[in-house]
Amino acid sequence: MTTTTEEEEESEQVVTPWDVSAGADGKIDYAKLVREFGCSEIDKNLIERIEMCTQTKAHPFLRRGLFFAHRELDEIVTAYEKGEKFYLYTGRGPSSESLHLGHLVPFQFTKWLQDAFKVPLVIQLTDDEKFLWKDLQLEDCRRLARENAKDIAACGFNPETTFIFADASYMCSSFYVNMVKIAKCVTFNQAKGIFGFTGDSNIGQIGFPPVQAAPSFPDCFPHMFGMNKKSLKCLIPCAIDQDPYFRMTRDVSHRIGGYKPALVESRFFPALKGESGKMSASDPTSAIYVTDTAKEIKNKINKHAFSGGGATIEEQRENGANLEVDVPWKWLNFFLEDDEKLKEIGEKYGSGEMLTGEIKQILVDVLTPMVEDHQKRRALVTDEVLDVYFNPTKTPKVFLDLFREYEEKEFGKWEKKKGGGDSENDDLCAALEEKMKLEGATENEEGCAIGAPKSEDWLRIRKERMQRDAPTEGSKSALKKAAKIKAAAEKKAAEKAAKAAARGEAATCNKN
Ligand code: TRP
Repeated sequence: MTTTTEEEEESEQVVTPWDVSAGADGKIDYAKLVREFGCSEIDKNLIERIEMCTQTKAHPFLRRGLFFAHRELDEIVTAYEKGEKFYLYTGRGPSSESLHLGHLVPFQFTKWLQDAFKVPLVIQLTDDEKFLWKDLQLEDCRRLARENAKDIAACGFNPETTFIFADASYMCSSFYVNMVKIAKCVTFNQAKGIFGFTGDSNIGQIGFPPVQAAPSFPDCFPHMFGMNKKSLKCLIPCAIDQDPYFRMTRDVSHRIGGYKPALVESRFFPALKGESGKMSASDPTSAIYVTDTAKEIKNKINKHAFSGGGATIEEQRENGANLEVDVPWKWLNFFLEDDEKLKEIGEKYGSGEMLTGEIKQILVDVLTPMVEDHQKRRALVTDEVLDVYFNPTKTPKVFLDLFREYEEKEFGKWEKKKGGGDSENDDLCAALEEKMKLEGATENEEGCAIGAPKSEDWLRIRKERMQRDAPTEGSKSALKKAAKIKAAAEKKAAEKAAKAAARGEAATCNKN
């Protein structure tokens, strides 16, 4: 059992990016978090829509409510249903040599999102964050970032559409420009309110939130997404303790001319010794690591997994297990894919027909091959392979192809148009490919991502949104933009009218 001091017993739950502790009852109150943070719960309907538009069965994390909260995920889905793509952004603070199972959760889910939606992904390794908060040398954090990236890559991300970067190495002009713009919008008092900074916080910490906020805007990655802050919307899968960063980001998005990033947020992965917060990297028996051997996995589960089962066989048979607190049961909810089997285990174990030793054995049987497979994949991630993920000049052609493939599949328009003598569209393709070289890249007024789908519907949605989101009414840039949009619309209407008139004339000529 975890023991709590009197002081902790009275305490309220605390959830910040650096500190997660449960309330008096040792549990995290997720409903309260959703209320306090102001995000929304993911409902059945939203999950069904995701399944429909991706034609993919929802990941168990989604089906089982482990990813349970969101901000504007519904909007991302609505746009996607109409053919608009987005990009994924997630990350990790590299503070330990190897990852534990809890660390894998957001990455496994992100991998599923990437495959289901067929979208690009950026992964931030905050070596700077860990340097600022932990008793570590920067050089060690940078090394850990690369080590951790191997485990992340081993989750199976598509190297052609995934860009992994570590802050201390990637920091570039486009990134920095976003950072300062964000930083200017947030006062120290606001930062204190959001993150709990005090007079003792070092100023690197106080200045850090814009670093994690910036990748929410696509122009941090000009080699992939071009230079337009509104080229693509962003969806961030993360654990709910990261919400404060993105609440801040969403608050400033419009003021710096970008879209608010959408979020899909998970519960915490319960520690082996019982759910009172996150697993601790400093206590090796509180977690199973991706480097653990089969023997270690078995030992840890048998010795340390907190059980909700009866204290004796008789008690278990009589009363069954308390699934609310049972760690093997909770972990199976994460990692046992078979819904039927899971249900059966829950019934049998909950009623006492199944014993603690049995459910622990089932968990061992699920985790051992999972971890072994991970180790095999990780062994394949050589430095050369890793360099492909980290390449900041990665030819963005793959993104163009990715989107084109999608466009073709969904709308059957792109290729047809391109080859079909539609000169306007040919020009667009040529211009895009030119832009990919990033020579003199400028803002694309259409708000089109490089390679993003260009169905007419999509362009219309974009335009409407740009009009709606115009920065401050009456500002110079807003007026200029509005005038430009208006002029373009008028030009198009005039052309259409002229064409119609010409047709009309032709028809009259034919008649005569
Ligand atoms: N701060 C996160 C951590 O400590 C790492 C991180 C950076 C992240 N960017 C992110 C997590 C985006 C989720 C989404 O683990």
